[in-house]
Amino acid sequence: MAHDAKPHPATARRSPALTGTARVPGDKSISHRSFMFGGLASGETRITGLLEGEDVMRTGEAMKAMGAHITKTGDEWVIRGTGNGALLQPQAPLDFGNAGTGSRLTMGLVGVYDMETTFVGDASLQSRPMARVLDPLREMGMQVLKSSPGDRMPLTLRGPKVAAPISYRVPMASAQVKSAVLLAGLNTPGVTTVIEPVMTRDHTEKMLKGFGANLEVETDSLGVRHIRIEGQGRLTGQTIAVPGDPSSAGFPLVAALIVPGSDITIENVLMNPTRTGLLLTLQEMGGRIEILNPRNAGGEDVADLRVRGSELRGVKVPAERAPSMIDEYPVLAVAAAFAEGETLMEGLDELRVKESDRLSAVANGLKANGVDCTEGEASLSVRGRPDGKGLGGGTVATHLDHRIAMSFLVLGLATEKPVSIDDANMIATSFPEFMGLMKGLGAAIG
Ligand code: S3P
Repeated sequence: MAHDAKPHPATARRSPALTGTARVPGDKSISHRSFMFGGLASGETRITGLLEGEDVMRTGEAMKAMGAHITKTGDEWVIRGTGNGALLQPQAPLDFGNAGTGSRLTMGLVGVYDMETTFVGDASLQSRPMARVLDPLREMGMQVLKSSPGDRMPLTLRGPKVAAPISYRVPMASAQVKSAVLLAGLNTPGVTTVIEPVMTRDHTEKMLKGFGANLEVETDSLGVRHIRIEGQGRLTGQTIAVPGDPSSAGFPLVAALIVPGSDITIENVLMNPTRTGLLLTLQEMGGRIEILNPRNAGGEDVADLRVRGSELRGVKVPAERAPSMIDEYPVLAVAAAFAEGETLMEGLDELRVKESDRLSAVANGLKANGVDCTEGEASLSVRGRPDGKGLGGGTVATHLDHRIAMSFLVLGLATEKPVSIDDANMIATSFPEFMGLMKGLGAAIG
């Protein structure tokens, strides 16, 4: 298990121009949901392009522990699901490792079953707030039998005999909370409604519809989304081709922008508009990013991205954009470190409760490498140094956070002095191929 493994430091050095073509692994959000919905649906689900990172594999193990049959033949994952409402009580605690998405969505999926389920995870996951999903599930009749202080993991849930449908307004911009309530609604008689004032990634809605759920979305005159799901319907297995993860693509993308003379192409990247905030921001900063071959694949927009070394300038990133690039702020901050002038990022409160407190992890990592920045309560401003002179030379504490690890290795590709991280192990949770892929483009990382 990664979280028990001994730390594995790594260092990145100023690199020659990056060149070549790469494919990033499958989207993490869609991969988790593919295992979950496939494991739940009747009949067979076939998945290609699945992200085989540790987080997703743990979701697969959890679904197996609750009765799904999951195998891999060649490049294809084949799942025979239990049928909606027919998951079994797992015989042992479900270990989600580092995975917030896997654990929170599964709490919704099984929390309203008339059975007991225990959730455990690594030190990072144990420190993350779970009340945001437990509270609405309690309203549906679920009890939390055991938990660590503050509704934290490890925790044991017990569902009611019959769950009660609710109408729930999501209090923060969170696709995980929205999804947990919708998934609980799958096993609840009647109509469960989620009201979403700020739109977040919509993979749960789109995919559940694809599996045959009776789900409808209505956007009112204020732009607020009302998502209704009718429970206890039939889900039918699907064929899914998972597109490349735009969050993972962010690392080679920013690397190519900041290393002078670079010219790379990243193929088959998911372009769902709830996920493209980083692209938009980098283009506003003057990043030379061409969107090639835009197409639709399996209900999602995808494209290839050609990225060239660019002279970036600082911008103000509006708070409203945060949901469409929430996982990308660490790597955006790295791009900002090489931009002319100041980049101001606002509306970052949710960054404090990711795999680490990402706002302080980023600010501390930048400071350790001589980057001029200011950490606010929910904001970050970075004043860049386009030539990278004087930057680098520090070691970054990654706090069991894969995106902090990858972001700071990207920083070191263009700083004057090398940048080290204390531990690269967690990269395997979302992007096991990261080191090989980056080296293949010419990055000096090891
Ligand atoms: C995710 C939602 C986001 C994101 C996470 C994946 C999802 O979390 O940060 O990496 O797949 O639903 P929040 O819902 O906490 O914003």
